[in-house]
This record gives sequence, C-alpha cells and structure tokens, in this order.
Amino acid sequence: MAGTILLTGGAGYIGSHTYVALKEAGYDVLILDNFGNAKHSVVGRLEQITGAPVTAVEGDVRDRSLLNQIFTEHQIDAVVHFAALKSVGESVEMPLRYLENNLGGLMVLLAAMEQAGCRRLVFSSSATVYGIPDETPTPETAPRRAMNPYGKSKIMSEEVLEELAAADPAWAFGVLRYFNPAGAHHSGLLGEDPRDVPSNLMPFVAKVALGELPLVKVFGSDYDTPDGTGVRDYIHVDDLARGHVLSLSALLAGKGGHLVNLGTGRGYSVLEIIAAYSAACGSDVPHQIVDRRPGDVPIYCARTERAEALLGFRTEKSLDEMCRSSWAWVTSQAAEPA
Ligand code: NAD
Ligand code: WQD
Repeated sequence: MAGTILLTGGAGYIGSHTYVALKEAGYDVLILDNFGNAKHSVVGRLEQITGAPVTAVEGDVRDRSLLNQIFTEHQIDAVVHFAALKSVGESVEMPLRYLENNLGGLMVLLAAMEQAGCRRLVFSSSATVYGIPDETPTPETAPRRAMNPYGKSKIMSEEVLEELAAADPAWAFGVLRYFNPAGAHHSGLLGEDPRDVPSNLMPFVAKVALGELPLVKVFGSDYDTPDGTGVRDYIHVDDLARGHVLSLSALLAGKGGHLVNLGTGRGYSVLEIIAAYSAACGSDVPHQIVDRRPGDVPIYCARTERAEALLGFRTEKSLDEMCRSSWAWVTSQAAEPA
C-alpha cells in the first residue's frame, strides 16, 4: 500500500537517498526544500537514478501559506521531515537561527498538517539527544541531555511530537534517532556535499584522500576506548534511507508511533575509519593526533533491538561499503567541471 509523501529537505544528503528508496518502494514523492544546503543539480540526478520526473518545490518549511497550498493541491498521506540546520558548532554561535529553523519549521509544518488532516510524520532526530550517555550501546530509554542548541532543538522537537500524540491519538510519529550517517549512493550520483570544510569525520577524511586537505586531525587519543580515539556507530546512508521506508510503512499500516535508534550497534574508532578509508582509496590517508575537540563524546553506539522488533530494521552495509561508496562519490565530483 503506497501513497503520496511530502519529503521536506529531500534535496539534502539523507533526504535525497530516502527519495530514491521511497520511489523504489512505490510511493509518489513531493520534495520541499529551500536549497539552503543543497544543490539544484540533485533534482536532475534523482531523475537520472529513478528514470522519472521529480516534483521539487523550492520553498521554506516555515512558509505556512506555501504549505497550505501544497496540502490543498496534493493528497498527502504522510510527511518525512528532514529539513533542518545541522551544524553543532554553528548552533552554539547562532542558537536562535537553529531554534527558529528546526523547531519553528516543525511547528509550522505540524499546524499545516493538522489543518489538512494529515497526521503521520517521520522525524529526523539524532543520537546527539543522548548527550554523554551513561550506557553504551545506548538504549532509547536513556535520558535526553543534549548540550548544544542543535541537540536541544531535536529534544524539544521530540517533546512537541510527544505532546501532540498524547493529546490526540490520531497523530502517529516515527521518531528516528540516527547515529553517524556515512557513505553515498552506489550510482555515484548522490552523496554528502558539504559547502564548507567538513566538520564530520568521513567527509573530512575524503577531502584529505583527494589531496584537497593536508591531513586528518585526530581529536584526542586518550579516551577510554580500545585505541584511545573516539568511537562512533557509522551507518550507511542507504540503510538509513531504508529505515525511513520501514518507519513510514508502519505508520501508514496503522501500527501507531515509534521512537527508535537507527545504527548498526557496532562502533569504530577514528583510527579504524582512517585505516578503512585508506584501504578503500588505495593510499594511506595522512593523519596526526591533536588535542580533544571540546564537547566531544568518547563513544556513541546504538542499541538496535527496538528498531528490529518494531520495524524489522537491520543494517546490511559494512564500513568498507561506506568508505568505498564515499570514495566513488567524491572522486566523481572532483572529476566534474566546476
Ligand atoms: P542536509 O543539510 O544535507 O539536508 C537538509 C536539507 O533541508 C537541505 O537540503 C536544506 O536545504 C533543507 N532545509 C533546511 N532548512 C530548511 C527549511 N527551513 N525549509 C526547507 N528546506 C530546508 O542534512 P542531512 O544530513 O541530510 O540531515 C537531514 C536531517 O537529519 C536533519 O534534520 C538533521 O538534523 C538530521 N540528522 C543528520 C545527521 C547527520 O550527521 N547528517 C545525524 C542525525 C540527524
Ligand atoms: C566523529 C568522530 C571526532 C573530525 C556530529 C554531531 C551530531 C551528528 C553527527 C547530527 C569523533 C572525530 C572528527 C575530525 C576527528 N549530527 N573527528 N577529526 O561528533 O559524532 O557527531 O555529527 O545530528 O549531532 O555532533 O561526528 O563526524 O564530527 O566525529 O578526529 O576532523 O571523529 O572527535 O570522535 P560526531 P563527527
């Protein structure tokens, strides 16, 4: 049973991969994106991959009249809401911008959905809501204690959804807490394309492997982890995209809401990532140990049982596939004329 889905932020990194997965699952999909952090060329690439025209509206999720128009013109069955700003560092400098975009955007969207009678939404949350967790692998029941405005915008968004679901059982939300997304689409046509110098590890390693940056700074080697460097649960973006399809089909099948981690349950250290990437690109990625990055968490790793029990979700792709697909993506981008 497919339907029509509004995909906010659908031109972004995770959204574009999810677009492909939704189309493969038989959904009609309408993208709403302000292209603040995406290139317009993504739309043509999605057409190339799916072999069908893409409907993409350029606009802001905070624009209530635009949303009303979309819900009037289309019979939307559910929304998958990716549109948000995501830089932790920037959120510390500009908390209002983050709260206004991330929390404000969600509020406008929910109000428009309520007016239209559309009450199913999949929400992009983040492992960052756990702050420094007491327990790893971390279960969904762990306390929410994010320390920066970005993470707080995700906590507040989760709370808003909980209030709505408690007040009116007609609402059903799929709240997905992603661990560390990595990798790219196997076609080489989609991937993460940061506008500035990347702050996340894998895109940074990719730029060093390409020779665009001199070396990877490894932030700290004195953590209480097997090799002393930070450990994360990296999840292939294709697996993540599939998680959204499963979440959506549970909501549309009337199974009620769910809040789940999306991760592999297996952590890798910074040095392990550099070694895996070096193997994938065929040359050693230079690196140097430097001081810890302020605010970093030693280990993030997901408990995965709930996503498996509620959604039947299990990851399929390995770290090697994340590195190889990332490398294929960045080399194809580097070969393109500017
Ligand atoms: P992204 O920046 O690539 O995609 C977000 C998209 O939303 C962009 O295309 C951007 O142009 C659009 N957008 C932002 N604000 C908008 C607005 N007000 N109106 C319309 N469009 C808007 O980021 P991503 O990595 O694909 O992340 C998607 C979601 O997943 C975000 O909500 C993010 O917070 C969450 N998330 C990301 C990660 C990660 O590491 N990438 C981890 C956990 C959670
Ligand atoms: C991973 C590991 C670093 C860069 C961030 C956000 C989080 C989420 C995902 C959205 C850490 C180390 C990194 C580098 C390094 N986003 N590192 N050198 O910090 O787990 O999470 O992105 O929700 O909210 O906080 O990801 O990729 O930045 O770091 O040594 O140049 O790599 O210290 O151990 P992080 P990351």
